[in-house]
Amino acid sequence: MTAGKIERIGVVGAGTIGASWAAWFLGQGFDVVVTDPAPGSKERIEATIRRFWPVVEKIGLAEGAKLDRLTILPEGSLALDGVDFVQESGPEDVALKRDLYARLDAALPADVIIASSSSGLKMSDVQGACAHPERCVIGHPFNPPHIVPLVEVVGGRSTAGSTIEAAIAFYRSIGKYPIRLNKEVTGHIANRLQGAVWREALHLVLEGVASAADVDEALSQGPGLRWALMGPSLTFHLGGGEGGIGHFLKHLGGPVQTWWDDLGSPNLTPETLPLIEAAIREEAGDRSMADLAARRDAFLVGLLALKASL
Ligand SMILES: NC(=O)c1ccc[n+]([C@@H]2O[C@H](COP(=O)([O-])OP(=O)(O)OC[C@H]3O[C@@H](n4cnc5c(N)ncnc54)[C@H](O)[C@@H]3O)[C@@H](O)[C@H]2O)c1
Repeated sequence: MTAGKIERIGVVGAGTIGASWAAWFLGQGFDVVVTDPAPGSKERIEATIRRFWPVVEKIGLAEGAKLDRLTILPEGSLALDGVDFVQESGPEDVALKRDLYARLDAALPADVIIASSSSGLKMSDVQGACAHPERCVIGHPFNPPHIVPLVEVVGGRSTAGSTIEAAIAFYRSIGKYPIRLNKEVTGHIANRLQGAVWREALHLVLEGVASAADVDEALSQGPGLRWALMGPSLTFHLGGGEGGIGHFLKHLGGPVQTWWDDLGSPNLTPETLPLIEAAIREEAGDRSMADLAARRDAFLVGLLALKASL
């Protein structure tokens, strides 16, 4: 299959991530068919996509993009007739996804790619019960997919190379920034990176080094600003001045090793979970989720425009 043939997209599971994907696909001018088994989900999904739409419009609509090209199937229906590509965003549960993939595989023609938004599962553990596992692939977005460009693409043991290539071409054609993982790894790349940073942030909070707010600001007022443009490796190349990374490693490699040796490794236990929740609730204060999300989204849209202008 080729990316050019995709005209109608199936979105399976439409919670936080699926509804956001649906908004992006609609904005890119596709017919979008959504299905979700939750009772009463139709109204919620419609309302969520409408809420996302102004941001999708602001980023830019493709020709022919319209909200009324959205179809929401009856709860739990897999009557995804005529879809050319499926983006699955059901719960992060390997047994549930295995069963769902077997049912999707039986319901869809063999040339329809089924891509999973899974944050960290391996497609090898999901595709086993499919008659056509070669069309199943991970296409992991970042929240919210109607704004953030990254999509991590990785196949499972039985995924065809042509599926991976077609998925990458498709995501690129709709304004996303796909990267290919050469092999499966729990949590893919970006979640491992943010997991490593968050683990240390929580360690610092739990050790009383600073409040959750100050630890967050240490990132967002410092390295986080640079990381939106270039990752830590290129950033440290610059940190070496004229000598680049060679000088940096010679000058600061030793100290960096002592930081690594001292990093914390907190566990999410019944003892630490309430402490972490309390610290983050204190940081959030009386700001509602809607306010926090609106501020994040407005910032991200501005940042994307700035990146595109460079
Ligand atoms: N939340 C994030 O930040 C994030 C980011 C990237 C990827 N993901 C991944 O996206 C997927 C969805 O996560 P989410 O945060 O949107 O979860 P969510 O709980 O918000 O949504 C899951 C949706 O799946 C539906 N569902 C339940 N059983 C189903 C089934 N059998 N078939 C189809 N749909 C079913 C639920 O009704 C719900 O609407 C997960 O695989 C997750 O790892 C999440």
